[in-house]
Amino acid sequence: MKRTLLKTADGSYTLQIQEWDEQYHSKHGAIAEALHVFIKEGLHFWFENFKVNEVSILEIGFGTGLNSYLSYLETLNNPWKIKYTGVEAYPLNIEEVKPLEYPSALNASEAEFLRLHQIPWEETSKISDAFQLTKQKKHFSEIEDQNTFDLIYFDAFGIRVQPELWTEDIFKKMYTALRPNGILVTYAANGNARRAMKTAGFEVERLPGPPGKKEMMRATKPKD
Ligand SMILES: C[S@@+](CC[C@H](N)C(=O)[O-])C[C@H]1O[C@@H](n2cnc3c(N)ncnc32)[C@H](O)[C@@H]1O
Repeated sequence: MKRTLLKTADGSYTLQIQEWDEQYHSKHGAIAEALHVFIKEGLHFWFENFKVNEVSILEIGFGTGLNSYLSYLETLNNPWKIKYTGVEAYPLNIEEVKPLEYPSALNASEAEFLRLHQIPWEETSKISDAFQLTKQKKHFSEIEDQNTFDLIYFDAFGIRVQPELWTEDIFKKMYTALRPNGILVTYAANGNARRAMKTAGFEVERLPGPPGKKEMMRATKPKD
């Protein structure tokens, strides 16, 4: 499927799949959405609540690497260690991600952003002392981890275009992959997705959404 560059409302870029009329990020602000949903309501929430200094993250849809890069940047200003696993079935090539210009938009180093894309798949690579990344090239339906992650960034394409990714089956996999007390954050607030999460065992909160979206969701795997 053809992907084209699209400028979003906060001035940052995303990729658009014209055939689906679907974007990798919100048209109302790609960086604004990622910072709100995944960094503020996911990463910061985790460290503020659990008072630990290490987190193990699973990202559903590595895509442009924006969430991974923003998480890495957080380790430069906080005493945090992050083990990050990004799952992606359709990797982008470096020529598609460079024009997104995330490092300059964030006033940060391009070297680490490019490394996130250049490191080999299926191996754990140290981006810094505080940030290690494992990229796995596979479909979400193949995820079989158990009690492995503290935090899931659930950033699949929307339920309108990929309803098969917002089902009880997929959320059961997410639930199993999380440790007790683990959380999943997503930009979506769809009622069917929320019911599927609850059936899978999650406790679900609706939170104020990023610019242009009333609500988002955070789901918690209760402590047994
Ligand atoms: C909303 S985009 C990802 C956005 C990404 N987090 C970012 O910041 O660029 C969804 C991603 O899921 C990937 N994807 C779609 N269906 C998939 C599947 N069944 N299994 C694995 N990856 C899939 C797409 O290729 C795309 O990169």
